[in-house]
Amino acid sequence: MNGGSNGVPRSNFTSAATPVPRHVAIIMDGNGRWARARHLPRVEGHRRGAKTVRMVVEESRRLGIRYLTLFAFSTENWNRPPTEVAALMQLFKRYLESEMDLLLKNQIRLRAIGDLARLPQDVQESLAQCQAATADQRGMDLILAVSYGGREEIASAARRLAHAVQKGELDPSQIDINLFSGQLYGPDIPDPDLLIRTSDECRISNFLLWQLAYAEIVVSPVFWPEFSKDEYLRCLERFSSRIRRFGLTDEQLAEFRQ
Ligand code: IPE
Ligand code: IPE
Ligand code: MG
Repeated sequence: MNGGSNGVPRSNFTSAATPVPRHVAIIMDGNGRWARARHLPRVEGHRRGAKTVRMVVEESRRLGIRYLTLFAFSTENWNRPPTEVAALMQLFKRYLESEMDLLLKNQIRLRAIGDLARLPQDVQESLAQCQAATADQRGMDLILAVSYGGREEIASAARRLAHAVQKGELDPSQIDINLFSGQLYGPDIPDPDLLIRTSDECRISNFLLWQLAYAEIVVSPVFWPEFSKDEYLRCLERFSSRIRRFGLTDEQLAEFRQ
């Protein structure tokens, strides 16, 4: 994901002039607590959460958001009970199969970031199929972060650059922010302008550690299965009322906007 000169992400001046963020990233949290509060199994929370995904995808597209990244499964989530992991993988596969038509109808390109090789073979195949089928769509990029860890992403970028240095293809002095971000999972994707996390948790949990450098963070108290269109719009409103300074003064920002 690209940075601009002086470390000020390129996307941000565009979004400062428009109320709709170009890139929204969401940590979809609270499925388990939603289920527990209703004496339901955790997996039921995940099932209901998948319905919220559909709403958020459609609404984002309608609003003209260009990139939507959803945190679906973290590297740390592999340590959950095997039955929950298996249920999540099955749900994930079913989601990919059932949403294909909706994605195509809405000109949505599906992409995935993460350590995808760890996913079960059938999930990898569904993912590849869905990515291939939607590859030409240009209305919105829906980026699913699965088996994703920000630290792993950064370490793998460093590893690739180290190999290039070892082979004599790169001099260490050439490594700067732009070159480094070019080695991350989605090098063409601009940094998120807005990060939403549901269920009142105020942490990043290893999500997009590099790319969130200047994202506005909005925490919603609502558990993901109950996250509604109205609550989503409220989060977007909170974003549009923020002043993003990127380390500058208000006076400098006023000059930039003229
Ligand atoms: C988010 O909900 C979904 C995943 C992490 C896969 P959780 O399953 O984390 O729900 P809580 O946080 O336990 O309520
Ligand atoms: C973050 O949620 C990962 C996803 C939403 C996929 P977690 O529920 O795993 O995060 P922690 O463990 O509460 O930090
Ligand atoms: Mg959680």
